[in-house]
Amino acid sequence: MKIPSPCFVLDEKRLERNLKLIDHVQKSAGIEIILAFKGFAMWSAFPIVRQYMSGATASSLNEVLLCNEEMGVKSHTYCVAYADDEFDDVVAHSSHITFNSLSQYHKFIDRVPDNVSVGLRVNPEWSDVETELYNPSSPVSRLGISSNDLVVLPERVEGLHFHVLCESDSYALEQVIQSFESRFGHHLSNIKWVNMGGGHLMTREGYDTKHLIALIAGFKERHSVDVILEPGSAFAWETGDLHTTILDIVDNGGVKTAIFDGSFTCHMPDCLEMPYRPKLGVGSSEEVSGWHSYRLGGVSCLAGDFLESYWFENPLKIGDSIIFKDMIHYTMVKTSTFNGVKHPAIGILMSNGEFELIKEFGYKDFKNRLS
Ligand SMILES: Cc1ncc(COP(=O)(O)O)c(C=O)c1O
Repeated sequence: MKIPSPCFVLDEKRLERNLKLIDHVQKSAGIEIILAFKGFAMWSAFPIVRQYMSGATASSLNEVLLCNEEMGVKSHTYCVAYADDEFDDVVAHSSHITFNSLSQYHKFIDRVPDNVSVGLRVNPEWSDVETELYNPSSPVSRLGISSNDLVVLPERVEGLHFHVLCESDSYALEQVIQSFESRFGHHLSNIKWVNMGGGHLMTREGYDTKHLIALIAGFKERHSVDVILEPGSAFAWETGDLHTTILDIVDNGGVKTAIFDGSFTCHMPDCLEMPYRPKLGVGSSEEVSGWHSYRLGGVSCLAGDFLESYWFENPLKIGDSIIFKDMIHYTMVKTSTFNGVKHPAIGILMSNGEFELIKEFGYKDFKNRLS
């Protein structure tokens, strides 16, 4: 079957390769690794995920329900703040519930059933993340309780949770663990589990998984606690692309922009926020002498919906394909229909080489999100 345009295409073989590696880490280190839906929630692929992983972490009632429906298990749940009218539904569908602040803990603890394990998110105040937008470790961050405010563990707390990494290596985790132990170590003999959040990019080439396994095994032994990791990106890292087509080439003042039938702001927002320059299927993100340069521009009316020059061996033409590599994590979960821009279709390149179209989006999807 032909791949429509625009279309997110997940490569089943690559997803499976990541799942095998993550499964190897969880088994070798004797820990549980769960999928963070915020990074990857393409539920048509969950039957494959479920072959290797037993759980997921949810950060909203919608993700909690998706976990129950499509992963077939209650979720590990951490929400920045729970809404009063949603809390009972959230907790009824959760195995673990983590509070971001002591005020939320005090507000809801009496409504947590006995069979749900209670955790608190804390701030270890160390991170290697340089982009402020993605760094939750500031001492005044709204994410997590600081050690000064957690002198005594409140009743029923069985776990501590931290998340301060993003696309990081195991050596960054080692630093975080040191900072966590120095701030919160005295609580560890009173709890059952530590959730070390996400940002562990163990599927990136060159990641030292042996070091990660030894690091976590050492932590477990020192404190006799269960360890949970909840990466998102690592699951979907380099598992597929966004296929688009050039609709127009605009030449203003000598700057050529190839306009494709997608949008950075609608479909690949990290490219503008981080900012992050994706690689292309054909073409170079760095200058190649003698090649032709074009800005790549989306179809939304946002003035900044473009990336600076990419280089192509041959001049681009209307109808040419532009494939943005590694566009599965933090894309589908963040898309919008701003400007009514067509949402890319979603498909899977199956391990037998065939393409299966999972879903196409149209006017009804756009209209249903508005009223
Ligand atoms: C609390 C929490 N857990 C897990 C993750 C997943 O992180 P990543 O996709 O970088 O592995 C995030 C990402 O923002 C997060 O905020």
